[in-house]
Amino acid sequence: MTRTGMPRSDALVLYGATGDLAHKKIFPALYAMTKRGHLDAPVIGVASEDWSIEQLRQRARDGIEQFGGGIDDGAAFDKLAASMSYVTGDYRDPATFDRLHAALDSSRFPAHYLAIPPSLFPTVVHALGSSGCAKDGRVIVEKPFGRDLASAEALNRTLHEVFSESKVFRIDHYLGKEPVQNILYFRFANSFLEPVWNRNYVASVQVTMAENFGVEGRGRFYEEVGALRDVVQNHLLQVIALLAMEPPVGGGVESLRDEKEKVFRAMRSLRPHDVVRGQFEGYRDEDGVAPDSDVETYLATRCMIDSWRWSGVPFYVRTGKKLPVTCTEVMVELKAPPQRVFADSEPPPGKTNYLRFRLNPVVAIALGARAKKPGEDFVGEPLELYVCNAGPDEMSAYERLIGDAMEGEPLLFAREDGVEAAWRVVDGVLRDHPAAIPYRPGTWGPSEADRLVASHGGWHDPEV
Ligand code: BG6
Repeated sequence: MTRTGMPRSDALVLYGATGDLAHKKIFPALYAMTKRGHLDAPVIGVASEDWSIEQLRQRARDGIEQFGGGIDDGAAFDKLAASMSYVTGDYRDPATFDRLHAALDSSRFPAHYLAIPPSLFPTVVHALGSSGCAKDGRVIVEKPFGRDLASAEALNRTLHEVFSESKVFRIDHYLGKEPVQNILYFRFANSFLEPVWNRNYVASVQVTMAENFGVEGRGRFYEEVGALRDVVQNHLLQVIALLAMEPPVGGGVESLRDEKEKVFRAMRSLRPHDVVRGQFEGYRDEDGVAPDSDVETYLATRCMIDSWRWSGVPFYVRTGKKLPVTCTEVMVELKAPPQRVFADSEPPPGKTNYLRFRLNPVVAIALGARAKKPGEDFVGEPLELYVCNAGPDEMSAYERLIGDAMEGEPLLFAREDGVEAAWRVVDGVLRDHPAAIPYRPGTWGPSEADRLVASHGGWHDPEV
């Protein structure tokens, strides 16, 4: 039994074991877990490719070498490889699940990780139910959780036909990131922030997730999603929820998840004039992209949270591919002091008087302030107090989340009502939105987005 009272998973079944996600993220995470002594259970790969177990082991090795920083502990890799087995077959064929049942052997509490396209979820979930493989097991699902509110509700219904909500672990890998967890910790482990963390002192909040690369061969996938579905509805709204939530009442994971869910409920549904969509020039030439595609590779929006704490404070969100840098940063702009005691003490917004959380590529929390320059005059200069300036994550988000799901620890996973409430916020603009405006690669996206933040001194462009 783990501390949550749920039994530890005694097998990990990986559907889509031959796929991209397994290659790039999951095998490196499993190797890291093995090195740390956090993975003792057998790993059963499932996929339709007619591979031998040796081919799957080779694929795992390759993924760890290419995307996991290499193999520096041969014994750990050998242990992982020895724990692996492979079940091949069509997901629609009951015989595949009979073979899986046999491979599960004496495992009683398997974790079923669906690293497969969402269109296959219903087939696999129902087969798990009817074959008996789901009994006492749990399921790990990857985003996207649906493609709009209606499909997310349908997906949740499908999952619940076989697994109760406490057995469903929805991965939003942003929640597994150390600096994202630190937002929560920093807010509620300190007392100095709370008095100013509201509409009386906060003028606006900006969240920028910039990437300097394009869709990297994922054109076909990207055509189905676009920036809003890919990262805003999930990763960035989750970050906002952590920034905006009330302190949880009492201990316990569910009270914390309740507070996050209330933020989504208080968020106004986005309307077409709240969003600016962009598409980098050259996107339409990518493989799998329609020559007249209107899919957005850039999105900027303004969210309003109708709560006592945040009424009237805009939360600006911006993300894009092929922007000048790769960086995710939160900028909380504080209101100016009520009186101008010194001639130079009211510089433009964003230049001082702010709190900055950098979430990627390095972790930082900084406070922008002004201090007097040495000398006779009361003249100051902007400076930053680093509250925290840590190196990149030790543990990858996937390592953390797979480990937590196997332990039955739900804190870092998205809950059914939270996911649906987040879809409700964006649902209207999924269909009804302005056309995507072209922008040049290497720029900060269409200048039309400037109007969203015009009253708050413009966008804060993170510097790397
Ligand atoms: C994924 C998106 O969920 O998150 C990608 O599908 C995006 O398009 C990625 O690049 C960013 O995550 P990270 O952890 O690399 O910053």
